[in-house]
Amino acid sequence: MTVTQSGLPRDCTFDPGDWAILARCWYPVALSRDLRDAPVSARLLDESLVVYRAGGEIVIAPDICPHRGVPLSLATGDGGGIACAYHGLRFAEQGRCVAVPAHPTAKIPARLHLRTYPAVERYGLVWTCLRPEGGPDVPVMAHWDDPGFQQITCPSIDIAAFAGRQVEGFLDVAHFGFVHPASFADPGNVEVPAYTPVRHDRGFSVDYWSTVANYPHTAGRQAPPGFQWLRHFDVHLPFTAQLVVHFPDGGLLNIMNAASPVSARQTRMFCPIARNFDLDLPLQATYDFNRQIFEEDRAIVEVQKPENLPLDPKIEVNIPADRSSVAYRRGLRDLGLSHFFTA
Ligand code: FES
Ligand SMILES: [Fe+2]
Repeated sequence: MTVTQSGLPRDCTFDPGDWAILARCWYPVALSRDLRDAPVSARLLDESLVVYRAGGEIVIAPDICPHRGVPLSLATGDGGGIACAYHGLRFAEQGRCVAVPAHPTAKIPARLHLRTYPAVERYGLVWTCLRPEGGPDVPVMAHWDDPGFQQITCPSIDIAAFAGRQVEGFLDVAHFGFVHPASFADPGNVEVPAYTPVRHDRGFSVDYWSTVANYPHTAGRQAPPGFQWLRHFDVHLPFTAQLVVHFPDGGLLNIMNAASPVSARQTRMFCPIARNFDLDLPLQATYDFNRQIFEEDRAIVEVQKPENLPLDPKIEVNIPADRSSVAYRRGLRDLGLSHFFTA
């Protein structure tokens, strides 16, 4: 099996105590629309997973055949289940082995059934949890189900950095004019007005008011002079955040930043978006703009040192604009997290 005696994945890159805490949380591992007949491979917290459809359900299991250890993501699938690439063992609902082609009439031993993880579909994504305790705790996305809102699930983006660094960057309001001048920000408008994070039981939220516009430069649109843009951030610890931007004409745009920790040094970013304007704009334009911004951020987050997110307040220096970052690190510390990395 890929999970060792200690319960940690083989070659685990996380501090064992941190892994045990992070493994209780829910993360997206695939886009629903990418999951068709063929199985999909995923990796979460150093655990290799196979994701497949079987009848009306989604099955998530370790990506290893219990027979001879071949990855099940190499299997063929038909929507009713998958057949392993090596000897054709067939796996269906709940990971049950339902056929051994070499012995069509023999009883199938229970040890051939797959150990599975729970699967929940939300926001066009498949979410799972490696060590569930109680019910699913998938973050609630504002406006996704509201009437008049368009639901957009952007393609995922792979980042060679730790999820915590990436999420902190999503919450950072002092970098717009430096990192995003090509997409939406104004290098001449970089002062950060005061704001106050407010804690809640899942993390914290922030109302951030500023005159930094959120229009793509390519749109050629301008807000009324002096317009105060409200950006409402909401953090669901450890690695999901959302940002609702309030536009001048009542437009609302909610961007969810769901960082899925592939390993301590790799992150797969999932980004569902809900908005009540531009409903007829081609989706590709939104995918492209979203990717441009995440690529601008990626260039920074991949070079930050140290690679983990220092939770010790003495290691990096805070400025007043960092109140969200300080609240974020405090929230992670309060979960009991410490170093994240094994080395
Ligand atoms: S290794 Fe999968 S069927 Fe034999
Ligand atoms: Fe950014």
